[in-house]
Amino acid sequence: MQKGSGDMSGRVCMITGTTSGIGKATALGLAKMGATVILVARNEADLRAAADDIKEKTANESIDLIVADLSSQESIHRLAEDFRNKYQHLHVLINNAGLTAEHKTLSVDGIDTLFAVNYLAPFLLTNLLSDVLKVSAPSRIVNVSSDGHKFGRIDFDDIQSKKRSAIGAYGDSKLALNLFTYELARKIKGTGVTANALHPGVVATNIGSHDSSPFITRFIWKLFKVFMSSPDKGAQTSIFLASSPDVDGASGKYFVKSKETRSSKRSYDESVGQRLWQVSEELTKVST
Ligand SMILES: NC(=O)c1ccc[n+]([C@@H]2O[C@H](COP(=O)([O-])OP(=O)(O)OC[C@H]3O[C@@H](n4cnc5c(N)ncnc54)[C@H](OP(=O)(O)O)[C@@H]3O)[C@@H](O)[C@H]2O)c1
Repeated sequence: MQKGSGDMSGRVCMITGTTSGIGKATALGLAKMGATVILVARNEADLRAAADDIKEKTANESIDLIVADLSSQESIHRLAEDFRNKYQHLHVLINNAGLTAEHKTLSVDGIDTLFAVNYLAPFLLTNLLSDVLKVSAPSRIVNVSSDGHKFGRIDFDDIQSKKRSAIGAYGDSKLALNLFTYELARKIKGTGVTANALHPGVVATNIGSHDSSPFITRFIWKLFKVFMSSPDKGAQTSIFLASSPDVDGASGKYFVKSKETRSSKRSYDESVGQRLWQVSEELTKVST
């Protein structure tokens, strides 16, 4: 039985991208509810600082961390292995880490970094942990997408969006994440594991103000950051989907402000979702 949204004790939750922003606020929220929280990001010092801060604010000592660079498939395999060496159960996986990028760069695997982190990493990590999610059922997969997916398109001749603008490529990666969420939900139906995607709102985090962020987002962030939602508010839908009994059994859905809503028409194209799954298997060499 899923526990009430106020009590997550005994539930093991892994959240990626927890050194700042929405991911850190989500970890704090779930830690406050008593969950065992595993923080994942690539910078160990920043992760330790986040874990210490969360422990201090919540008095919850069950805050663990695993260092992983989600742009590297080897690192994602190690993350899954490190997790398995320590834990037998995973009740909530929140694929939250993400980025925007002005310039295209290649990951160590020779894959566009934005595509690798925003889309392929959730695909690979979720599939590597799917058996432990299944034995932990009822369990939940929560994918932090964006309404930016509405500007996205899937072009199988340019699946990594190498020919696209910075904003276009971001939208493409989030559209791919929605397509993945819905295809995954169809595949895991009846297992007790659910998969949903969400838009967190426009949130005053670092995502738009890194030196590597697109010029346009840096500009918007500089002018309008004070008017954006706080990370705590931006984390609410992730926390809701991870913990609320209101969404027991809900799967293959898209949520904004903790309310189910429709994502773009393109995101529901099952034939595109199936083909994207096959391409993703090839790119990650994972057999699902
Ligand atoms: N903020 C918004 O308005 C907004 C709107 C829609 C959707 N979103 C989505 O919300 C999610 C969280 O973003 P945020 O706004 O909270 O941004 P953020 O403050 O920049 O946080 C992003 C997190 O992802 C981590 N990350 C980035 N690249 C990584 C990699 N290669 N390996 C491991 N971790 C990595 C970052 O770690 P480092 O510290 O190492 O960089 C950081 O912890 C993203 O998926 C984003 O697309 C945000």
